[in-house]
Amino acid sequence: MSITLPDNSIMLKPNFTFGVATASFQIEGANTEDGRLPCIWDTFCATPGKVLNGDDGSVACDHYHLWKEDVQLIKSLGVDAYRLSIAWPRVMDEQGKPNEKGLNFYRNLMEELKANGLKVYATLYHWDLPQHLEDKGGWLNRETAYRFVEYADLVTKELGSWVDSWATFNEPFCAALLGYEVGVHAPGLAKPEYGRQAAHHILLAHGMAVPVIRKNCPNSDVGIVLNMNRTYAASDKAEDQFAALVRETLDNQFFIEPILNAQYPKLLEKVLPHYLPNVLPGDMDIISQPIDFMGMNFYTCNHNEYDEQNLYRDIKKEGVEYTDIGWEVAPHAFSELLINLNKQYNLPPMFITENGAACADELKAGEVDDDQRVRYLHGHINAVNDAIEAGVDIRGYFAWSLMDNFEWAEGYSKRFGLTYVDYETQQRTVKRSGYAYRDLLLSRAK
Ligand code: FCB
Repeated sequence: MSITLPDNSIMLKPNFTFGVATASFQIEGANTEDGRLPCIWDTFCATPGKVLNGDDGSVACDHYHLWKEDVQLIKSLGVDAYRLSIAWPRVMDEQGKPNEKGLNFYRNLMEELKANGLKVYATLYHWDLPQHLEDKGGWLNRETAYRFVEYADLVTKELGSWVDSWATFNEPFCAALLGYEVGVHAPGLAKPEYGRQAAHHILLAHGMAVPVIRKNCPNSDVGIVLNMNRTYAASDKAEDQFAALVRETLDNQFFIEPILNAQYPKLLEKVLPHYLPNVLPGDMDIISQPIDFMGMNFYTCNHNEYDEQNLYRDIKKEGVEYTDIGWEVAPHAFSELLINLNKQYNLPPMFITENGAACADELKAGEVDDDQRVRYLHGHINAVNDAIEAGVDIRGYFAWSLMDNFEWAEGYSKRFGLTYVDYETQQRTVKRSGYAYRDLLLSRAK
């Protein structure tokens, strides 16, 4: 099995960007080195019962020390670009002053990426909020949005010359909802009214930061990355159709609509008014700043039926394929979601900023034969191609992930990499999927 695209695919043309993605907390390690401050994920990991096997980010993939080799690994995959995130607690001290050692890590890394002909896609916030800000209320505190703008200002001034594309946030849904409403991610708070308020402050921080980044980096693109799911109704019954609509509204529209249309979804005013955040005058204009691109992270789909209390309830579908993390493999849902959004909104250029599969990989005789991931990537890359053919303006695709890493509450138990990481030795081994991805990319005409 290989990963292929139709010969005439736009994705094979030179201006379509292929890459691999990672995030700071998931790979860097060195979480007390060179003045890096504690972040909410350090605290969460240290809280018994929160992360599987008590895993933490102290070493991770040791990328903080192995970055130079890792750039060669990225290059060896034949990609055009690398998507990484900056660790806020590494580059700014509690007083808001730059941490030069932390900044130097990113300067060296980015310089090396550029020297190897790779484009740099940087995300400012992939969930590692400095703990001292959480101690003041974190994303429930509107002030954190102002602190984020100061951080964004510092980083985009210091690192801007290397960065082709800035994303303010990765997945506000996960940062806000999983962190403050469901509590399965840091900081682990769980109150129904918290999630949407945290989300509003994150979106506000995004909107306030956009003009600052534009001023500091006039030649870079600026956007945001959302995770999105396609939800199917469990049956044709009107109540199940409604359940699916509510679910997509909460997961997707709640985030995309304020950014593109300056409002929270009207449906919520009717069916879940207590879910609407406290919005101050002017906030929606700030949040809906024009952006150069929207990133979409896509992994799976949901099936929902009506539930009297919560309006929707997940059901497991029979006869479909799942990955090792229990997520259904649904490439058709990917193209449908993109095509639906393109009908519903005036979308900016889209980038698929994450897509990938967790598999129960094993290293045998120096090789990892991850057939399911190869099939997953083939299906989803072709789903992107289908969406492009149906008229969606998609400019790039990033596989999640460059290498196995710290998968949040699942610790190191779930492997998403195109490269296998032996956490004892830190040895990296490109999996069959990594080679299949490389072969697709090398097949492109230069
Ligand atoms: C996304 C995250 C990313 C990774 C993948 C599997 O929600 O952005 O860090 O954990 O899921």
